[in-house]
Amino acid sequence: MDNYVRIFDTTLRDGEQSPGATMTSAEKLEVARTLARLGVDVIEAGFPAASPDDLEAVRRIAIEVGQPGRSDEPQTRQPPIICGLARTSKNDIDKAWEAVKHAARPRIHTFLATSEIHMRYKLKMDREQVIERVAQMVAYARSLCADVEYSPEDAGRSDPEFLYLVLGEAIKAGATTLNIPDTVGYTTPEEFGALIAGILQHTPGIENCTVSVHCHDDLGLATANTLAGIHAGARQAEVTINGIGERAGNTALEEVVMALHTRRPVFNLATGIDTTQLMRASKLVSNYTGIVVQPNKAIVGANAFAHEAGIHQDGMLKHQQTYEIMLPETVGVTQTRLVLGKHSGRHALKSRLTEMGYALKDAELDKTFERFKNLADKKKIITDADLEALVADEFYQPREIFTLDGLQVACGTIGMPTATVRLCGPDGQLHLQAAIGTGPVDAVYKAIDAIVQAPATLLEFTIHAVTEGIDALGEVTVRIQGTNGQHTFDAQKEMQQPRTFGGHGADTDIIVASAKAYLAALNKLLVATGSYGTEAEQSSEVKVTAAA
Ligand code: KIV
Ligand code: ZN
Repeated sequence: MDNYVRIFDTTLRDGEQSPGATMTSAEKLEVARTLARLGVDVIEAGFPAASPDDLEAVRRIAIEVGQPGRSDEPQTRQPPIICGLARTSKNDIDKAWEAVKHAARPRIHTFLATSEIHMRYKLKMDREQVIERVAQMVAYARSLCADVEYSPEDAGRSDPEFLYLVLGEAIKAGATTLNIPDTVGYTTPEEFGALIAGILQHTPGIENCTVSVHCHDDLGLATANTLAGIHAGARQAEVTINGIGERAGNTALEEVVMALHTRRPVFNLATGIDTTQLMRASKLVSNYTGIVVQPNKAIVGANAFAHEAGIHQDGMLKHQQTYEIMLPETVGVTQTRLVLGKHSGRHALKSRLTEMGYALKDAELDKTFERFKNLADKKKIITDADLEALVADEFYQPREIFTLDGLQVACGTIGMPTATVRLCGPDGQLHLQAAIGTGPVDAVYKAIDAIVQAPATLLEFTIHAVTEGIDALGEVTVRIQGTNGQHTFDAQKEMQQPRTFGGHGADTDIIVASAKAYLAALNKLLVATGSYGTEAEQSSEVKVTAAA
């Protein structure tokens, strides 16, 4: 299909590769399910050679999401291709195959750099050696898997004539997709578009392959470059949710999809994405990684559809399209206000949740209803955003090793901020601890630290109100790093990176939300230390409810 652009999502590989974004196996599985519902064509599920846990996470995704009828996408849709990254070595390719072969549509993605700087200093290989290795390893991957993608890393800074040669050899060896990465986000849209056009024109055999683009955002040009590549003839875009990724990140999925969607007459190209799921996917990834979406982020930022200036509001009232080029509903931002109060029933809540796309089982609905009633006691108007936050807080949480059982703080201008915290531990025992801090959150975190005993540094703490108004739910996101050296392996840099853990909590009491978020992150850290079973075991324990 010439006017179809495949969306290749690499949130779980290139996104997760950024030092601050590590997710547990259970979270990766849930993100993969969400991506399948969103309608992505390819999920790059990870780098299986990095560790046995990484291999197992990709294998679980291949089984759970890569088989027909296993994920939650409509029955008419094929399951997404499940892809694993491999360096050009037999060991990496074997590991990638071991993980992805369980999918109905597996893919091996192998890469080797082609720029002078990478070949000379990183690979210590000359051009002939690079060509030979690519030909050998693509052929090896193809002997295992019918769908093989090759990426000349740092293509954006490579000599185009050399690229045509390498890509030609990869095609002869059996590559079916050729991905062109601007690894360091160096090119401009004109240059990148010309590079893709040149590749399409000069590479022998390219007409039988899909050309793909993969841009990084170091100069803020990733989306523009990706669109320039697509305009020049690329038919696969490699992207991540919220644009997360190494350094300044990758191209944001939602930006490319909505540009193609909104400017359809310009591009005349389609994707298979259900755009109404974009907001939910964005929130899920942000909650799991602890990487907060900036308010002015295109498409999924909190202000993307907010019109505060008086002149804008006046224009909006006259005609919505004066200042809005997309309808908020198109990307899953629901404006509906659900006015349910103390006396509203379980049935009304269930209908609204179903309309929002949640298919809760009876027990889950009971829990949500209980939390909804508590919230309705404190807050007059409950919006869809409140419900989203409640569901996320209740169900999108990691395995609970320590849970919050009670909390009390004393703070203000008189006396020392003091917190008393009661946690329920893994043995079902209650643990009580008091602590003094520089403020109430610090005091709570000190008390939690004294009970949990998992040394960690708090890297980031963000708080925001889910809706306007003094009675709003507060959402807290934290990122922590274990001080006992948990690491993750970066395939491209070939080095270990410190692993961080994100946590998320929501409550009308922001101190309670802060405690929940910190505990969620600490629970993940505890799992990663191996003291509470392996991470892979826990991917079968995901609590989250599938959205329709
Ligand atoms: O940015 C890059 O070059 C990559 C490749 C491994 C495709 O992520
Ligand atoms: Zn990349």
